[in-house]
Amino acid sequence: MSPTHPLRVVVLISGSGSNLQALIDGQKRGELPIEIVAVISNRAAVRGLLRAEHAGIPALVLDHTRYESREDFDKALQAQIDEFRPELVVLAGFMRILTSDFASHYEGRMLNIHPSLLPKYQGLHTHQRALEAGETEHGVTVHFVTPELDGGPPVIQARVPVLENDDAETLAARVQQQEHVIYPLAVEWFARGRLRMKSGKALLDNEPLGPQGYLTGTAQP
Ligand code: GAR
Repeated sequence: MSPTHPLRVVVLISGSGSNLQALIDGQKRGELPIEIVAVISNRAAVRGLLRAEHAGIPALVLDHTRYESREDFDKALQAQIDEFRPELVVLAGFMRILTSDFASHYEGRMLNIHPSLLPKYQGLHTHQRALEAGETEHGVTVHFVTPELDGGPPVIQARVPVLENDDAETLAARVQQQEHVIYPLAVEWFARGRLRMKSGKALLDNEPLGPQGYLTGTAQP
C-alpha cells in the first residue's frame, strides 16, 4: 500500500551533502514522494547545510564536540530528530559511529549509504583500501542501519570497475555517480511502501533481498 502523504524524512550529514542534493533534486522533479523536514549536521559550516538552506529546508547543527560522551550526543540528536516526527531517517555522509540505543530506536526506519561493496571494507578509507587490495570492482551499498557498524541488511548495491590508472579520488568520483542513483531509488522504494525491514532482512515488494541487496551497476569498464 502506498502512503497518501509525502514521507517525512530527516537527513543527517557531516559534509558536502551531494547525496542530500540528489534527494532534493529527485523530490523537486516529482520522482520522490518525500518531504525533507530537516537536515541536521554534526559539523558547522559544511556545504550540505547551504544546500538545505537553498532548498528551503530547516538546517540545524548539533556539534558533537560539545557533548561529554557519545551517549550524551546521541540522546540529544535523537530528541532533536524526533521533534520533526520523521518516518525515515537518512544518513547521507553522516560520519559518526552510532550508539546501540540510537540505532535500535530507528531500526527499520533508518538508511545509510556506505562507499564499498559491503561486507567488504567497513569503516573508513574504503576507496584506498580497495585499490591497495588490487580489486577489479568496487562500489557502494545502501543498507538499513542496525547497531552493528556498517552491518545492517543491504538494500541495494551498485558496482563500478576499478580502472588501471585510478587513484582514490577518481575511484571515489565514479562511486559517487552511482550513489546519486541508488540512494534516491532506495528512498523512493521506502516512501512508496515497497521496502521494509523484517526479522533482520530487507524486503522489497515482500520478497527478501539477497545478502548484497538489489544489484545494479556494472563492473565492466
Ligand atoms: C559518500 O561518499 C558516502 O558514501 C560516504 O560519505 C560520502 C558523503 O558524501 N559515507 C560514508 O563513508 C559512511 N560511512 P556527500 O556528503 O557528498 O553525500
